[in-house]
This record gives sequence, structure tokens and C-alpha cells, in this order.
Amino acid sequence: MVPFLDLKSQYAAIKPDVDKAVIDVLESGQYVLGPAVARFEAAFGAAYGIKHAIGCSSGTAALHLALLAAGIGRGDEVITTTMTFIATATAIDLVGATPVFADIEPDTALLDAGRIAAAITPRTKAIMPVHLYGQCADMGAIQRIADQHGLIVIEDAAQAHGAKLGDRFAGTMGRMSCFSFYPGKNLGAYGEGGLVATSDDALATRLRMLRDWGQDRKYNHVIKGLNYRMDGVQGAVLDIKMRHIEAWTEARRQVAAWYQEALGNTPGITLPVERAGRRHVWHVYGILVAPQQREAIMAGLTARGIGTNLHYPTPVHLQPCFAELGRGRGSFPLAEHHGAAELSLPMFPEMTRAQVDEVAKALREVMAEVTAKVPA
Ligand SMILES: Cc1ncc(COP(=O)(O)O)c(C=O)c1O
Repeated sequence: MVPFLDLKSQYAAIKPDVDKAVIDVLESGQYVLGPAVARFEAAFGAAYGIKHAIGCSSGTAALHLALLAAGIGRGDEVITTTMTFIATATAIDLVGATPVFADIEPDTALLDAGRIAAAITPRTKAIMPVHLYGQCADMGAIQRIADQHGLIVIEDAAQAHGAKLGDRFAGTMGRMSCFSFYPGKNLGAYGEGGLVATSDDALATRLRMLRDWGQDRKYNHVIKGLNYRMDGVQGAVLDIKMRHIEAWTEARRQVAAWYQEALGNTPGITLPVERAGRRHVWHVYGILVAPQQREAIMAGLTARGIGTNLHYPTPVHLQPCFAELGRGRGSFPLAEHHGAAELSLPMFPEMTRAQVDEVAKALREVMAEVTAKVPA
């Protein structure tokens, strides 16, 4: 038995510190923002070299706040990837703008910088790359295109805490960047949480107001804002977890290395890559299989007690809620193929070598069985 994710064992390892920090918040009476959130923001900013780290209520809220702070709205277009979680695109839609997709790089499944220029129109205001699965998008190339066309870059770093491109951390390369602390993320709260990062002082002031009803002081609403504040309890939990994120990230990298070793020569599967000069933090460890075999492979793994998942079976342009964009099947063939071929294997920092070997053994057996029945 190897679960897809095991959040309870991580909690068990840090329980005394978390319990105390949570009780301190409960006893303090400061349940929204407050000192625990401020401590976490400072720790997060210091760890990743971020000048302004602004905690908020979710990754979706972080994206919405960044788009609002950038003044993006009705009639504007934002170029992003269709191979992402729905929130990237719905946040763009939420401010009244239109998500415009470009296809992906087939090996990383990241937004292909080489396809962005063709998607630019006079309405384009921003590019929103997603550091999918924990690997940085090609930010150098993306920023060059943005500079040529006067666009701003907002990073969706929801899956990429601690990922690096050269010596730069994810979340420090765009004008603003957005993180999620959904429990299953590499840095996960015990509820919802998110954060916007920026080095721009004016944007930081605006973001802090936008997350708190647009107030600069109580009941003085300078701009129209929202209630996107971070809970004190989540700030306290995340502040404790910040002490461990580096060790957990290294543990994920070890699990990925074990997988590469154990699955290296398995016929019928393609392993994920870590591009040179990038630090992949393995939020998702996804292999590629023949689309017509995927269901049977998942069933075989489930029967052997191995948890699996899909990220993401339907690219955003084919989601019913974005039918209005009129981008049907065949519009982004690389993303569509990836969505049909990707299969996520168990990945969490507490995974042992024995568990990786168990997954690898089961997968090899299943591949032999399935290939005999369903040709690749
Ligand atoms: C790429 C991406 N963007 C945005 C989000 C939204 O974050 P949240 O669930 O915290 O709202 C998520 C995660 O759920 C995500 O994976």
C-alpha cells in the first residue's frame, strides 16, 4: 500500500510545534492577519529573497489580487498555458480579461515561450507562466518577449515553492508572483492559504489594501478591495512549516531520484525530466504513458494498493466553462496529448525507498500485463 499523498505523517512529525503555535493564536484573540501571519510573511520573504510577501486566503485569491493590482480588466488579454489547474484561467476571467493560451513544451509540459509571440494582440497586457509540477518555466525567454511588447509577467508559482532557475527562486522573476498553500501543496496550510510576492513597493501597498477591503486605515476604503486576508491559524502553521520546507524539498528530490533509478528501463513509460540549471521541487511526479493504456494502468496500480492521480486530464481550453473561448479539440495538440498521457505517481517527502520500490515493482508488473492486452 502506497498512498498518493500522506499529509497525516507530516503532521505527526511536527505536531508539538504546530499544536503549540495554533493554541497560541487561539489564546491571542488575533484570528485574522496579526503577528503569526506577519512572522510567516517575513520568514517566506527571507527564505526566497522576496521583498514583499503578502499572505492571503488562497492561491486563487493571490492570482486575483495580482491581476487587480496590475490594473488588468475588461477587454484585456493575458497569455497563459492551457495545461494548468483551472484557477490560473478563472482568475484572469474574474477580472473581466480573457485568457489566451499557447501550447506547451512536450517534455516539461510548461508554457512554450517560443509560441507566445504568435498569441500577442493589441489587447495583450500580461503573460502568466505557470511553474507546473514544481519546475520553473523558461522565464528568461518569457521576460524578453514581455519586455519587447511592454507586457507584465505574473508568475503562477502555486506548485513551485523553492524551485529555482539558475540561482533565482520561483516567485522572484516576474513583476508579481502567486503561491498557494492548499494542504497538498509542497508548503501546505491546514486549511486554505496563498501569498503574493513582489519587489515593487507601490504594488505591495496596493496588494495589502486590496486583500483587506481596500483600506489604508480602518473604514477608509481608498480602492475597492476584497476580504482575502490570511487566517492567523494558517500563518502560524505555515511559519512552523517554513522551518522544514528545505528538508522536505530535498526529500522530494531524493524520491524523484529513486524513481528515475527504479523505473529507468521500464518499457512503455516516459519519465519526467529536470532541465539543466533548474531545481525541480517535484510537486507532481508524472510519467507519460500511451493514452489508450492509461486507464488500465491506473486500475492495475489501484488493485495493488498504489495511489495515482492525473494532472490534468482536460486542458483548460476544453473545459465546459471555457467553451465560450471557442478553442475546440485540436487547438493545442501538445497539451491535449499531455492531458491524455500523464499519470501522477505517489510523491511526498516522507516516502521511503521501500515505498518507491513497491511502486516501481507494481508499475513494471502492470505495464507487462497491460501491454499484452492493450497494445501501445
Ligand atoms: C497552478 C495553480 N494555480 C492556482 C492554484 C489555486 O490555488 P488555491 O487552491 O490555493 O486557490 C493551484 C492550486 O490549487 C494551482 O495548482
